[in-house]
Amino acid sequence: MELAKKLLLPCGTILPNRLGKSAMSENMASKDHIPGLKFFNAYSQWAQGGTGLLISGNVMVDSQYRGEANNVVIEKGCNNHKELKSWACSCEGTESQLWIQLNHPGKQTPKFLTKVPVAPSSIPLKSPLDAMFNQPRELAHEEILDIIGRFAYAAKICKETGFHGVQIHGAHGYLISQFLSKHHNQRTDEWGGSAENRLRFVREIYKAIRHEVGPKYPIGIKMNSADFSKGGFDHEEAIHVAKTLSDLGIDLIEISGGSYEKPAMTGSPIKESTIKREAYFIEYAKEIKAKIACPIMVTGGFRTREFMEESLKKRELDIIGLARPLCINPNFSNQLLSGEDVVSEVKPLSSGIKIIDTIFPLEIIWYTMQINRMGENKKPCANASVYLAIFNTALDTGMQSLRRVRGKS
Ligand SMILES: Cc1cc2nc3c(=O)[nH]c(=O)nc-3n(C[C@H](O)[C@H](O)[C@H](O)COP(=O)(O)O)c2cc1C
Repeated sequence: MELAKKLLLPCGTILPNRLGKSAMSENMASKDHIPGLKFFNAYSQWAQGGTGLLISGNVMVDSQYRGEANNVVIEKGCNNHKELKSWACSCEGTESQLWIQLNHPGKQTPKFLTKVPVAPSSIPLKSPLDAMFNQPRELAHEEILDIIGRFAYAAKICKETGFHGVQIHGAHGYLISQFLSKHHNQRTDEWGGSAENRLRFVREIYKAIRHEVGPKYPIGIKMNSADFSKGGFDHEEAIHVAKTLSDLGIDLIEISGGSYEKPAMTGSPIKESTIKREAYFIEYAKEIKAKIACPIMVTGGFRTREFMEESLKKRELDIIGLARPLCINPNFSNQLLSGEDVVSEVKPLSSGIKIIDTIFPLEIIWYTMQINRMGENKKPCANASVYLAIFNTALDTGMQSLRRVRGKS
């Protein structure tokens, strides 16, 4: 069975099988960005569930700029190393590996968290998102260097606290993909303009991390196959970025797509040919894989064992990335590996009211609620109400806004 085969990464690490949990923001750290027992509980369930590679939800490299209020942060002066060590222990007794996904949100940080976000250029998100996200200011050269240093520092701490690897979040419209995009990056200095210049930010982040962690520590990246917005980051450029990072020695490239403006990552249809097959980005990933040496993980839409096996057999990818299926069934990988013909129960979510579905990112908030259940050592609940997730989010957002008004965060 292809799914059960081990995978050797360029750095020498061996992954125990071909199943990877893709990053899902847990949003359950304390207000001081500390990952408590809930993280250990959730990741223990996933590790027991047989998935060979577990990638954490995005961990921020700057507490001033977070995607969500309760993200974990790793930065100088952040006193959470003891808790990080405990979280890193959640895979003990299993073969699973736990990597931390490192991120900076750039302009994708909501108004109630950040008054003035930062970005390569001062270009706001398009309507209707501009109602929820403030216009960013352009980063200065020294600030860009500071952020590169933050990624490297955070990776060093991940290694020291016992995590098995790190993944750079270069996808979904966050800061790194803002730098890569012609639309979001309209700088005229060495960080913008040509494809080579727009690529500089992520390349320097990779090099700085490698310098800190050494040649034997796994470093991956999640990147877009394209961002699917007019004049943005296209597929030809994605191939070039993947090839550059592969040639530099990166260990794993995970392919996804989209941004807050075009949420293709959770299956918002892109074009007819991409929805014909089970996995949203596989056609793009195949083209990337043909041109690079480093292993490829593809995430988005995998639901059946048959299709996963077929994709691996055809050498279209090396690791199957799973996110939502593991939120409602943390044991899904064990079932797949035992040869059961299981099909994930992931279904489209709707409140039944169009305007509510537009305002609330149901695919995110409903699954975050499931991760929180896992954090409380409960089993996920596939029948949980969408309205409960909406209520929790509205309450949380209200509380955060209130804190900001009172100057407490
Ligand atoms: C609740 C939730 C949180 C997510 N958070 C992240 C994240 O922190 N980083 C990331 O790269 N992708 C994130 N994603 C996207 C997933 O990693 C994945 O790309 C997407 O859900 C498609 O995979 P799936 O069809 O297997 O769910 C998130 C998705 C969900 C549902």
